[in-house]
Amino acid sequence: MSSDPVPVNSPTDQPAFLQIDDVVKDFGGGAVAVNHVSVDIAQGEIFALLGSSGCGKTTLLRILAGFETPTSGRVLLEGKDIGGLAPYERPFNMMFQSYALFPHLTVWDNIAFGLRRDGMAKGAIKERVGSMLKLVQLDKFAKRKPHQLSGGQQQRVALARSLAKRPQMLLLDEPLGALDKKLREQTQLELVNIIEEVGVTCVMVTHDQEEAMTMATRIAVMSEGRVLQIGAPGDVYETPATRFVADFIGNVNLMEGRVEVDEPDHAVVRCADCTHYVGHGVTGTVGMAVGVAVRPEKISLQADEPGGTHGFHNKVKGTIKELSYFGSFTVYHLELLSGAVLKISQINAARHRDATLTWGDTAWASWPPTSQVVLTQ
Ligand SMILES: Nc1ncnc2c1ncn2[C@@H]1O[C@H](COP(=O)(O)OP(=O)(O)O)[C@@H](O)[C@H]1O
Ligand SMILES: [Mg+2]
Repeated sequence: MSSDPVPVNSPTDQPAFLQIDDVVKDFGGGAVAVNHVSVDIAQGEIFALLGSSGCGKTTLLRILAGFETPTSGRVLLEGKDIGGLAPYERPFNMMFQSYALFPHLTVWDNIAFGLRRDGMAKGAIKERVGSMLKLVQLDKFAKRKPHQLSGGQQQRVALARSLAKRPQMLLLDEPLGALDKKLREQTQLELVNIIEEVGVTCVMVTHDQEEAMTMATRIAVMSEGRVLQIGAPGDVYETPATRFVADFIGNVNLMEGRVEVDEPDHAVVRCADCTHYVGHGVTGTVGMAVGVAVRPEKISLQADEPGGTHGFHNKVKGTIKELSYFGSFTVYHLELLSGAVLKISQINAARHRDATLTWGDTAWASWPPTSQVVLTQ
């Protein structure tokens, strides 16, 4: 028995369900919308394409759906090239940001629409629509028209309609984009639960990094048509591959410096305000210019000089210029000697902090040698 080769970027050793193979889309007139993108997606994944507006997310999704033909490259489903298939021939369903519900049809008829068009038997349609309404918890709203529903309910009708034909793959373009922030946060987990219950593989597009982190099994971070990094939310957050990704995902302090020591088990990077002792070797050579990224929550702040690492690394003195209280945590802006500002977030675990640091105070920031990410790109 021969074994299949293990595909790249796959989260496990399962073969890829959907393969995006070196896809390019050039509309002409300057920038390339999708620039040599390769991604493997496993069955059952919720995969997010994340990036700011105009980076090519929708174009890539439309290529998967068959609404757009790639300039070059292939899309394979279970190893078969689906490039020649029209949108309706692909076992995919795309849910648009606008939902595109039929305003004159009831919820029930909106969900049944595609099934009727496919010539499904009446009894089977009734059963399928009933189970879809249950799935999205809208049984009681079957007779309403879209305008008699809230934004969140309309979103669920669109989802039920997309899932009614039992597609093998669900394509979601900014699925929660039309909802306000609070409703969006509630709906994120609801949507994940429904997708997981049905077991459908899903590719979603979003510009909202928190949404991608909350919902996706893996994320592809995109910029200017290219994929910069692919990984699980935790991996992309904790080990960003480039300065762009570090800065795009969450909050980060980025310091520029030069590698001074590079040993297998540690490295020292000298920056303007401090020296970083990193608990592992970095691939760069001594003297190389690198960025050092430290997340605000990995830094501690205190009034007195801390020990640092080996006495003088991983600590810096500054002046508190800003302080934002968020209830469960406080964010401090510490201005350093060079004028650079370090963001530090501290959890407010105790109700009353003994020695409260405030505006204008001199304070010390310090961080452990496991907290930094050294970036060469
Ligand atoms: N049909 C089209 N013709 C020409 N340019 C397009 C077309 N669709 C998208 N683009 C361009 O491709 C780039 C990527 O767009 P899009 O995929 O919509 O980005 P996103 O969904 O990430 O905001 C943009 O610069 C956009 O102007
Ligand atoms: Mg878009």
